Amino acid sequence: MEHISKLPNIETTIFTTIGNLARKHDAIDLSQGFPNFEADKKLIDLVSIAMRSGHNQYAPMPGYYGLREIISHKIENLHGTFYHPETDITVTVGATQAIFTAITAFVHSGDEVIVLKPAYDCYEPAINLNGGVPIYLDLEAPAYVVDWTVFKRLITHKTKMVIINTPHNPSGHIFSKEDMLQLQELLRGTDILLISDEVYEHIIFDGKEHESASRFTDLASRSFICASFGKTFHVTGWKLGYCAAPKPLMKEFRKVHQFNVFSVDHPTQRAMAEYLKTKANYANLNTFYQDKRDFFLKGLENSKFEFIPSSGTYFQLLDYRKITVESDTDFAKRLILDYKLASIPISSFNVNNRDDKVLRFCFAKKQETLAEAVDILNQL
Ligand SMILES: Cc1ncc(COP(=O)(O)O)c(C=O)c1O
Repeated sequence: MEHISKLPNIETTIFTTIGNLARKHDAIDLSQGFPNFEADKKLIDLVSIAMRSGHNQYAPMPGYYGLREIISHKIENLHGTFYHPETDITVTVGATQAIFTAITAFVHSGDEVIVLKPAYDCYEPAINLNGGVPIYLDLEAPAYVVDWTVFKRLITHKTKMVIINTPHNPSGHIFSKEDMLQLQELLRGTDILLISDEVYEHIIFDGKEHESASRFTDLASRSFICASFGKTFHVTGWKLGYCAAPKPLMKEFRKVHQFNVFSVDHPTQRAMAEYLKTKANYANLNTFYQDKRDFFLKGLENSKFEFIPSSGTYFQLLDYRKITVESDTDFAKRLILDYKLASIPISSFNVNNRDDKVLRFCFAKKQETLAEAVDILNQL
């Protein structure tokens, strides 16, 4: 039988390739974006309690109401915008499903979607599967700042949607208030929708603030705010997140959600609703990860790597130009084979695999793991 692939250009991702190689060679794995420490025991216990209390059947289609309520409070407290739990918030299988669902619900064949590169890898397949056309804005290393005049030139009558991600994976760059205001002005008066991927909303450093799209009235009116409890609470394996958007947008979103997912794991939703009642559970995350970033970078002060400290996320980019002329993929593989340390080559996030000689390291790791990684990096 012959089948025409709907995604002919998708091959094994670099994450799988590097992950497999890291396991095969028993390398310290700073490649993939997940912690190697446990989640808060209180949160785990809350799931057991929910299960033992009998919350083991389907949750309501848009999510457990108590969780939607607390999400609504959280957004209003942090950003001053009210999302009605009944109509404006849907609990999803992580941010990935929220993003996929928003794209599927709105992007028609031929619609253009502006994607800022380097970008997380789930955006483009979702656009392509829906017949959309990704339009790329190339951000330049090492700062990855957006030139809004270049962005403006990409907007056409076919532009349906823009996808942004702040704090940004892989660069650790964050959008300032001015960035968000520029974006708001450029989209004002259009029908263009915005997906705001905010999965690292609570991992932001040096006293800076997360400028959620929900803070900006005109942006919020066209935005899907996509968030991830997996990222925030060290439970990426739970695949629990949410999408917040104004009622008319959420109405269409739920039409797709209802028949793709229907409803999300119930006991973890109950646990999360309870856990979110304590603000410190997420408010202290900035310091927790900033300490890890600082420990990692202090260790590299005298190394040959060059870097701009990450402003958010749990990723740090390291420029290795002073060490070798190898491609980033070759160097990343050699680091695993010869030094037993895994990282991600950034070319895999770029248009045409542009190689800026930069590797991405995840510092959501135990102190001893980071110390071992630092020792290795100092040998280069
Ligand atoms: C920028 C970005 N968006 C979305 C996701 C996916 O989040 P989730 O695991 O909640 O689906 C990730 C995970 O690495 C990410 O880095």
